Amino acid sequence: MAQLWGGRFTKETDKAVYDFNASISFDKRFLKQDIQGSIAHATMLGNSGIITKKESEAIIDGLKGILSDVEAGKLEITSEYEDVHSFVEANLIDRIGDAGKKLHTGRSRNDQVALDMRLYCRDEISEIKALLINLLTSIHEKMKETTDVYMPGFTHMQKAQPVTFAHHIGAYMEMFKRDLGRMCDIYERMNYCPLGAGALAGTTYPLNREETATLLGFYGPTLNSMDSVSDRDYVIELLSALSTIMMHLSRFSEEIICWNSNEYRFIELDDAYSTGSSIMPQKKNPDIAELVRGKTGRVYGALMSILTTMKGIPLAYNKDMQEDKEVTFDAIDNVKNCIYLFTGMLNTMKLNKENMESSTMKGFANATDAADYLVRKGTPFRDAHGIIGKLVLYCIDKGCSIDDLSLTELQSISPSFEEDIYEAISLKECVEKRNTIGAPGPEAMKKVIEINEKYLSELS
Ligand code: ARG
Repeated sequence: MAQLWGGRFTKETDKAVYDFNASISFDKRFLKQDIQGSIAHATMLGNSGIITKKESEAIIDGLKGILSDVEAGKLEITSEYEDVHSFVEANLIDRIGDAGKKLHTGRSRNDQVALDMRLYCRDEISEIKALLINLLTSIHEKMKETTDVYMPGFTHMQKAQPVTFAHHIGAYMEMFKRDLGRMCDIYERMNYCPLGAGALAGTTYPLNREETATLLGFYGPTLNSMDSVSDRDYVIELLSALSTIMMHLSRFSEEIICWNSNEYRFIELDDAYSTGSSIMPQKKNPDIAELVRGKTGRVYGALMSILTTMKGIPLAYNKDMQEDKEVTFDAIDNVKNCIYLFTGMLNTMKLNKENMESSTMKGFANATDAADYLVRKGTPFRDAHGIIGKLVLYCIDKGCSIDDLSLTELQSISPSFEEDIYEAISLKECVEKRNTIGAPGPEAMKKVIEINEKYLSELS
C-alpha cells in the first residue's frame, strides 16, 4: 500500500478500506493525461523559479521515462498504489530521487484530477467528433445515391405520404450534425485549465497559471479555485450530449430493424453485420442494431448517475467525485463503439428499392395528393378531404389502390376527376411536387445536399 499521506496517521489503513478508497484500477487510464499535466506543471515551476531548472528538467525526463516504460510494457501500474497520481509520483521519486519530491509543489490531487479528467474528456471529444464526421459522410454519400428511391413516410407507424430514402436518412443527417455541434460547444465551454487551484484555495507559491494553461492548449486558467476542483458540469454536458447521440442512433437502429424484418424487406443487412441463431437455421438477426439500441440505456444511466452524485455535495472537493470516472469511461467507450459499428452497418447494407417502391404504392400514401388535386380543380380542401376519405373506403372494400380505379369509378365519387388524376397521384409526381426547402422533392434535396457537401468540406 503506497500512499502519499501517511504522516499524520498512527495506524495502517484497513485493507478493505484501502481497496474501497483506491481508484487505480480505473484511473490508470489517465496515465497519459496525468503525465502531460505534470510536465506542464514542472515546466512552469522551473520557469517561475519555484524549483530550479535542473530539477524541472530531471522531473520532465523522469515523467517521460515512466510513460514510455508503461507503454513499452516495462513498467506495470499495479494496485499497490492508491491512484494513478500516487503511482506516477512514487515512480518518479524512485527514478530521480529528491527532485521528484518537488513535483507536487503548489499542487493538490484535487486540481490534478480535475485537470486529468478535463484533458481526458477533451481528447475523447476529438475522437467522438471524428467518428461523427465519418458517420455524417456515410449518410451524405447514401443520400446522394438515393434521391429517387421512393419509400413510404410514416406517422403513427401508418403510411402517411411518399418520401425518398435520401429524405428519410437526411433527417438523421440533421440530428447528427447537431450532435457534432454539441461536441464543439462543450469543448468551447470546458477548455479552461483548473491546474493551480490547489486543494481548493489556490496556493501561496507564485504559480503562473496562464503558462500551464497555454502549455496544455487551454484558452486560459479557470477563474475560481473552488469551482475548479468541484466542477463536473462538463462531464454532465458531455454525458447528456452522448445520451442524445445514443437516442438518435437508437431510433435509427429501430428503423433499420423494422426495415430489415421479413415483413418490410426494405433493406438487407450485410452478413458481416448480422448474426445467426443457435437453433433456427434460417435466422439472420440484426444484433448490432439491437445492441446499439440496448446500450442507449447504459449511457442514460451514466448521465443520471453523475447528476445524482453531484446534486448534494457541498463545495469544494469531496470523494464522491471519484465516482465520475467509471461510468463516464464506460459511456464514452460505448458511444464510440456504437458510432463506429453503426457506420459500418450503414455502409454495407443493401436497399431493396422494388420493395420500398411497391410498399409506397400500397396503403394510400398518395391520398393527400389526390385531395390536393381536387383543390387545384376548385374543390375546397375540407370537401376534398371528405371525398378522398370516401374514395379510400371504397378502395379498401374493393382491395385496391386509388390508382387502380377507372376514371368512371373516380367520377362517380367526384365529377372533378379527369384523366390527369393518374399522373397527379403517381409516386413520381407526389414526391417531385414537394420542393419547398426541407421537403423530399428533387430540387429541394439537391439544395440540401449541396449545403451538406459544403458543411462537410468545411469540417476537415
Ligand atoms: N482519486 C481521486 C478522485 O478521483 C483523486 C483526488 C483525491 N483527492 C483527495 N482529496 N482525496 O477524485
